Formats: sequence, structure tokens, C-alpha cells
Amino acid sequence: TRRITVRDIALAKDRGEKWPMLTAYDAMTASVFDEAGIPVILVGDSAGNCHLGYETTVPVTLDEMTMLSAAVVRGTTRSLIVGDLPFGSYQEGPVQALRSATRLVKEAGVGAVKLEGGERSHEQIRLLVEAGIPVMAHIGLTPQSVNAMGYRVQGRGEEAAQQLLRDAKAVQDAGAFAVVLELVPAELAAEVTRVLHIPTVGIGAGAETDAQVLVWTDMLGLTPGRVPKFVKQYADLRTVMGDAVKAFAEDVVGGTFPLDEHSVH
Ligand code: KIV
Ligand code: NA
Repeated sequence: TRRITVRDIALAKDRGEKWPMLTAYDAMTASVFDEAGIPVILVGDSAGNCHLGYETTVPVTLDEMTMLSAAVVRGTTRSLIVGDLPFGSYQEGPVQALRSATRLVKEAGVGAVKLEGGERSHEQIRLLVEAGIPVMAHIGLTPQSVNAMGYRVQGRGEEAAQQLLRDAKAVQDAGAFAVVLELVPAELAAEVTRVLHIPTVGIGAGAETDAQVLVWTDMLGLTPGRVPKFVKQYADLRTVMGDAVKAFAEDVVGGTFPLDEHSVH
């Protein structure tokens, strides 16, 4: 079997097929999603919060993204792997973006990269696409700009909605193969999805986008504390793992692990 390609993704939109995307940050987790048939896996810089212990995505480095992306590629055989370009690895301009994306493609083996920004990133997207690197864009709430915009719903009000539409068209014109819409009103995301010929990937963007993405630790219940309203929790891994670990600890303290069946003679 071969990997899913960006061409398969384009065909899905033509056929009106919706598809799921999940983040992953390590080979083991990614292999579960690959075996489950998730067509696109994003090595998101949400690794900053969800895997590396930072408070935001801002500190994540290209070295870290390269290491995590390589692990996800090694753990999978069929999924298209998209590597996130972290903050500071493409804002200087198209040449910096190409140098950074090239590392993710050559050293990690990703099939595509993602970067944040609409009109402001269109030159970066264009050069990457010309160089043969498929690009997923990301507009609406862009977490790398948290210090400037906070974590607020984007595209509310006529002016902001028009800007989001301009951003969506700009990334499509620049050659992006898909665009993430994060935390935008469902009606606006539906309009963007109708207007564009490339697929939209929603997170907190309602039901009408072509694809849906969730952060894996959120959807499987591993993230501590409250998760955003747009997350559906499909499992409670934090409780499952916590209970299992406590049972192990009790067994060791109480002398009921290991038993003879776990021992060699
Ligand atoms: O880093 C990430 O997980 C993302 C998704 C939320 C789209 O960018
Ligand atoms: Na991201």
C-alpha cells in the first residue's frame, strides 16, 4: 500500500467526501491512528502544549518539530504526514520558509507542511509550492500569534469575515492544497468551504467544513483540566492510565506483583 497524497485529498473534495485529521507527536500513537485509517496526521506544534510541557506553541523549535515529525513518519505507512512549521521558522520570508520546510521534508520525511497566516503568508506558500512542497495553510485563530490576538473566536463581524475570506482566497491562490479554519463561526466556515475549491479543515468551525481536525490528547481525554467547547471526548485515557498506574503501584507495595507467572526460574 502507498501513502495518501495531496492528490487524493483534492479528489475527496471533488467527490464531496469528508475526512478526519488528528495530531500525533510520537511513533506509537501515530501507528494507532495509521492502523485506524486516519488519512492525514498532523504533527502539530500543539506538541508544545500537549507533548513538551510548554504553555503555548510559541517556544517550539524547528529542531523539535523535525524530531517529532520523523518519529511520526517512522510509525506510519499509509497516512499523509503534515509537519507544522513552528513560530520563527518562516516569518522572516519565503527563503527562510523554504529552508525550514526543506528540513521537515528531507530530515523527517513529511509529505506536506503547514504554516499559519493568510494574506501575510502567501509569498511563503507560493515559494514552497513552486519548490514542490505541498502546503496546508491555517487561518482564523492562529495560536503562534497568541501574544497579539489571544485565544478568541475569529471572523466575527462583517469586516473580520471579509478579511477571513480574503485570507482563504489568498492561500488558495498561492497554491495551498488545504486550509485549516480554527475557531471561526460555523456560518462563515461554511461560506469559505463553498467558495474555495481546496478542502477546508475545521477545528471549532462547525459541521460544514470538508474535514475535521482535533488534537489527539483532547479527543482521547488525556489533556488535564478543561478542554475547549469544540472538542468531543471519545475516551477518558487520563482516568484509564491513572487507574492502571495506581493498580501497579498498589501491587508493588502490597507484594502482589510480580507473581510466579511473571517470573523466570
Ligand atoms: O498544532 C496543531 O495541533 C494545529 C491544529 C489544531 C490545526 O495546528
Ligand atoms: Na499548529
